[in-house]
Amino acid sequence: MNQEKWTLVDEYFNGHLVQHDASHLAALDACHEAGLPAIQVAPNQGKLLQLLAMTQGARNILEIGTLGGYSTIWLAGALPSTGRLITLEFDPRHAEVAAANIERAGFGALVEVIVGRAADSLPKIAAMGLEPFDLVFIDADKASNPIYFEWALKLTKQGSLIIVDNVVRNGSVANPETTDPDDLGVRRFAEMAAAEPRVTGTVIQTVGSKGYDGLAILRVQ
Ligand code: SAH
Ligand code: DHB
Ligand code: MG
Repeated sequence: MNQEKWTLVDEYFNGHLVQHDASHLAALDACHEAGLPAIQVAPNQGKLLQLLAMTQGARNILEIGTLGGYSTIWLAGALPSTGRLITLEFDPRHAEVAAANIERAGFGALVEVIVGRAADSLPKIAAMGLEPFDLVFIDADKASNPIYFEWALKLTKQGSLIIVDNVVRNGSVANPETTDPDDLGVRRFAEMAAAEPRVTGTVIQTVGSKGYDGLAILRVQ
């Protein structure tokens, strides 16, 4: 398609509007150095997450899928100094890189990285009796999106946002014959969200430096 053009346009606007500060750059460098897959949100998508969290006045954020903490740092930048962000990561090596990046970015006191399968960590978080989360960002194994969406509903309140990354997946999600477990996870999530009276939402398709994908944005009613 037009990958080259999409990347150039991302670079053009990112140069003007997305203030990528030293901590974002340092986090990307550290992820690269550690050999982590370069599947973090694009800079303009990270900024969108931050803007949504700011608009939300978010004080408590839950992220499912940390990788090296790049999206975490964008989201944490929206929090007040009394805020809190919990992020869930299966891979201990990813979590280690993320913890160092988050610390370097100055968010060590606000952010907790919990290592383990998110499906195992989520019931433990529910049992902690925390305040509901103002924003949940779902960005881990897409096959488990239905499980994560269920937990996001349990852990939020009226007015909270639930954001799901990678729901378009180069268009493969719209193929009713798909047998890919990740596509099926996204499709099941979409069906659940459609049938769920507690949320209203939309999906925006995106092109850019990460190719052709999309984000679901839902509000808890
Ligand atoms: N949100 C990150 C990118 C996350 S990539 C960013 O934009 O910067 C997806 C991450 O989810 C990977 O680090 C992967 O190890 C993690 N993951 C995969 N399966 C998981 C599971 N079952 N529980 C928790 N994390 C998982
Ligand atoms: C990929 C991209 C993502 O944003 C993600 O969370 C997981 C995987 C990918 O391009 O493979
Ligand atoms: Mg993603």
